[in-house]
Amino acid sequence: EKGGYDSYMLKEIYEQPQALTNTLIGRLHDETGEVNLDINLDPASFKRISIIACGTAYYAGLVGEYLIEQLARIPVEVDVASEYRYRDPIVSPETLAIVISQSGETIDTLEALREAKKGGARTLGVINAKGSSMTRELDDTLYIHAGPEIGVASTKAYTSMVGAMLMLALWLARARGTLSEEAGKELLHATRELPRLVEEALSEERVSRIREVAERYAHARDYLFLGRGVNAPTAFEGALKLKEISYIHAEGYAAGEMKHGPIALIDANLPVVVVGTESRLLEKTISNVQEVRARAGRVILLLSDGDTENAQHADDVLYVPRSHEMVSPIVNVVTLQLLSYFTATHLGKDVDKPRNLAKSVTVE
Ligand code: F6R
Repeated sequence: EKGGYDSYMLKEIYEQPQALTNTLIGRLHDETGEVNLDINLDPASFKRISIIACGTAYYAGLVGEYLIEQLARIPVEVDVASEYRYRDPIVSPETLAIVISQSGETIDTLEALREAKKGGARTLGVINAKGSSMTRELDDTLYIHAGPEIGVASTKAYTSMVGAMLMLALWLARARGTLSEEAGKELLHATRELPRLVEEALSEERVSRIREVAERYAHARDYLFLGRGVNAPTAFEGALKLKEISYIHAEGYAAGEMKHGPIALIDANLPVVVVGTESRLLEKTISNVQEVRARAGRVILLLSDGDTENAQHADDVLYVPRSHEMVSPIVNVVTLQLLSYFTATHLGKDVDKPRNLAKSVTVE
């Protein structure tokens, strides 16, 4: 049932091109630039959006915040569900509450959804599990169609959730007229390329390189992950994956925050993974890398294919396929999933059943 793979997690990592295809299929129309999500809610009727989720789904929400604000110019806030449900949130009928959940059963997210409804919000779910509890209470559900996810550490559900958030951002932007036709078509094209780019990120050559780097640093006690902008959540997710399955302490930070505290941790024993793929702000990220190196930190740098110039700033470079910045979190995270995977398996950990974790958290 693991289809020849050693674990469900690895199988699900490799299923990502197909899962993403299933997320996107039939929903994007190239000629017209239209996005058809079968959602009955009126995309032009919201003044603000609240995104609510837990764990990995929360990080998909953070990418969603960035995309929706950039493309559709609607104010977005993102909350972890356990905070949202108890903080007496400000909600009105002009609020769209988006809950994101693989299982559709996470109790904190379900209760947060009920809280949003109490305040009159309209509700939309980005959900994987068909017919799950949340789908019965939502106004509308955008299924991600990633297929069953068995491995406790979420992989394909994450990339498909981000794919769904990207489509939602495009849908909102079109309805609100905030995206030029040209920019819209360019993004639609970039989105369509995703399954192929993720496939490319999983090429044998890249995977064996990731494995080699993972094994070199597998005995580190702590790890730091840095990223900026739409890839700050990629760093957070990279850190979460590593701690979940390898039990190595890892922190994810927005790169610009490093000098406000975590820089104190840097020494020759601290691997720092930096998402340094093509971006408007790449220069700023590279200067953060230089700050790490000036303090003897070890830098593992994700760079876009062909960026040989910035390779000089790293101890180890992991090249990833070049993609449009707005869609790059989906391509980039795959390398971090594999980095965690090979670290954990090198240390002899059971990646499918990490200690203390449950696939779906239905008690508070
Ligand atoms: C991370 C992980 C958890 C879940 C979180 C939310 O790998 O598995 O952080 O993402 O418990 O679960 P869902 O998406 O089912 O609501």
